[in-house]
Amino acid sequence: MIILGIETSCDETAASVVKDGRIIMSNIIASSAEIFEEYGGVVPEIASRKHVEFILPVIDKAIKLAGIQKDEIDAVAVTQGPGLVGALLIGITAAKALAAALDIPLIPVNHLKGHIAANYLTHTDLEPPFVCLLVSGGHTNILDIKGYNDILNIGGTRDDAVGEAYDKVGRVMGLVYPGGPKIDKMALEGDSEAISFPRTKFKDNPFDFSFSGLKTAVINYIHSKEQKNEEYSKEDIAASFQKAVTDVLVENVFETRSKKIVVAGGVAANRGLREALNKRAEKEKVEVYFPIIQLCTDNAAMIASAAYYINEDDFDINADPSLEM
Ligand code: KG4
Ligand code: ZN
Repeated sequence: MIILGIETSCDETAASVVKDGRIIMSNIIASSAEIFEEYGGVVPEIASRKHVEFILPVIDKAIKLAGIQKDEIDAVAVTQGPGLVGALLIGITAAKALAAALDIPLIPVNHLKGHIAANYLTHTDLEPPFVCLLVSGGHTNILDIKGYNDILNIGGTRDDAVGEAYDKVGRVMGLVYPGGPKIDKMALEGDSEAISFPRTKFKDNPFDFSFSGLKTAVINYIHSKEQKNEEYSKEDIAASFQKAVTDVLVENVFETRSKKIVVAGGVAANRGLREALNKRAEKEKVEVYFPIIQLCTDNAAMIASAAYYINEDDFDINADPSLEM
């Protein structure tokens, strides 16, 4: 079964052809992220306009690179939400037009299910059940994945998502958007024990997170150093912040006692998180899976893969910016 996936939930215009949910035949991404560097974050209206510009060439390129004819596509899959409504609508409109023209099913996909499926593309034998640590720019959750479409949310952030905290801290440190990957790199040069930042733990749900206190602590640290005209090391801040984040992520996901942990979302690319999870997993004989780095952040291959396991198609879908899992 050949599925063409389309993803436009944020600032990446992406299309991909995937065979049987597991084999990537092509994976094209046109990103407008560079434009947003100067704005310090995604501007929804500009993102939508860029999607309009990119969507048709990106789809054409994905089909061409896969080496197939349009009539070989069995279904079109598209991100329905969560995401920016205007951005989502561009992908959905293109997907509907293509599915109608080819007279094939249109499969709506939850973006978060897509992030999980990035692991099905990376580890072709991986199957549920497992526990998923979903860490992206908009979400931070621990999910009990009982089946491909049987997913229970057992914990999540009560304020900022982890990627969001990275990007906000990055902005205060003077790094261009998105700050996450830059902090990850800077952390390599710093001392993770140099500054003691807070770790939040909830008694009523050991799987819940909070990152806004940590974010504020970093911002206060920087402001207080600047007010006193004192020198400080950005590398130490990056390393100490990253250690505080990864300590909490690792601790909470290991609270599940699951023997199979799958990490998904943009922050799954984080070097510190990979190292910390692998170390703990080795000690406790737990299997840990990450997507390959290129599939951690937004792409359409993950959408096409997730769609392979969804049995419902719906031609009348609308964008749902706050779609639940
Ligand atoms: O999953 P994603 O592409 O988009 C959403 O669905 O949100 O995640 C983007 C987020 C951004 O906040 C970005 O800073 C973060 O993932 N990110 C990272 C790294 N690479 C991307 N955060 C920390 N370390 C990284 N290496
Ligand atoms: Zn995403």
